[in-house]
Amino acid sequence: MGYVTRDEAARRLLAGDVVAIPTETVYGLAADATNAAAVARIYAAKGRPDFNPLISHIADPTQLAGLTLPDSRADRLAAAFWPGPLTLVLSRAPNCPVVAAVSAGLDSLAVRIPSHPLARELLAMVGRPVAAPSANRSGHVSPTTPEHVLASLGPDMPVLDGGPCQVGLESTVVGLTGPQPLLLRPGGIAVETIEAVLGERLGHPQDAKLQSPGMLLKHYAPALPLRLDATAPLPGLREGLLSFGPVPAGFAAQYSLSASGDAAEAAANLYAGLHALDRTDLQGIAVAPIPEAGLGAAINDRLRRAARGR
Ligand code: TXA
Ligand code: MG
Repeated sequence: MGYVTRDEAARRLLAGDVVAIPTETVYGLAADATNAAAVARIYAAKGRPDFNPLISHIADPTQLAGLTLPDSRADRLAAAFWPGPLTLVLSRAPNCPVVAAVSAGLDSLAVRIPSHPLARELLAMVGRPVAAPSANRSGHVSPTTPEHVLASLGPDMPVLDGGPCQVGLESTVVGLTGPQPLLLRPGGIAVETIEAVLGERLGHPQDAKLQSPGMLLKHYAPALPLRLDATAPLPGLREGLLSFGPVPAGFAAQYSLSASGDAAEAAANLYAGLHALDRTDLQGIAVAPIPEAGLGAAINDRLRRAARGR
């Protein structure tokens, strides 16, 4: 199958088929969130465990009303960050048309409005919430180009080409089902920026398994072992370096996340760098230290999961 047009992608979604779509964060494997058979095709194509819920994507904030219960904090965050890389987890409305499998049986629903222009056009054409996890085999590195999608899910997967993703990291997921807003996943909008709009600190869930099942799994992992906070080569080991700032000598290969040490630029290049250095002629991937401030926190979250997941 390979590449499809926007109109073909819309036809496929309305017919209950899956299609990979661009967003500003990562490519998503999309299906009609109101169609149980279509949603089942997402889980099957990814090899994803069915206890890990999916994000529903909408075109317009007015679509939220029928899906979730009203929440003034959600209204403020939506006004500030939508369209954009923020996902809100809210209580499902009584007659929410999104099938239970999207929520993996939870009584909450994760929703966002992506900012990629092609994604927004497509979602407006479809007019229904569209479920979309990252368009990769479960546990593997997320795709930020159409080529990554085809390499992970196979050349027969239909893909809408929207170019390389501008943000490059998944959305920040904020839980609003309880009295305190919770950070369920760091991502494309820095925690500090969200807290400034909310006027309060985000809590960190004690039991992440209950709050956001996806966070416990092996995730974002390349085939090669990852070595974090690497400042120099290890003797005798053929490692490729993901560099941040100046490049130390002596590594077998190198991919620059950001020569100037800019976290947003590094986020946009992170998954492409992991894909590029995951080579059979290397023995490992070394990653330079990345400061925790701003998007650095989300980058380090992904790198720690990728390193631990092996
Ligand atoms: O940027 C993104 O968010 C991308 C693009 C395609 O939109 N999507 C994405 O989806 O990263 P996925 O499925 O890879 O990650 C969804 C995250 C998981 O950590 C999942 O556990 C959490 O959101 N999640 C989804 N629904 C939830 C719910 N009802 N309660 C708690 N966490 C939820
Ligand atoms: Mg994912």
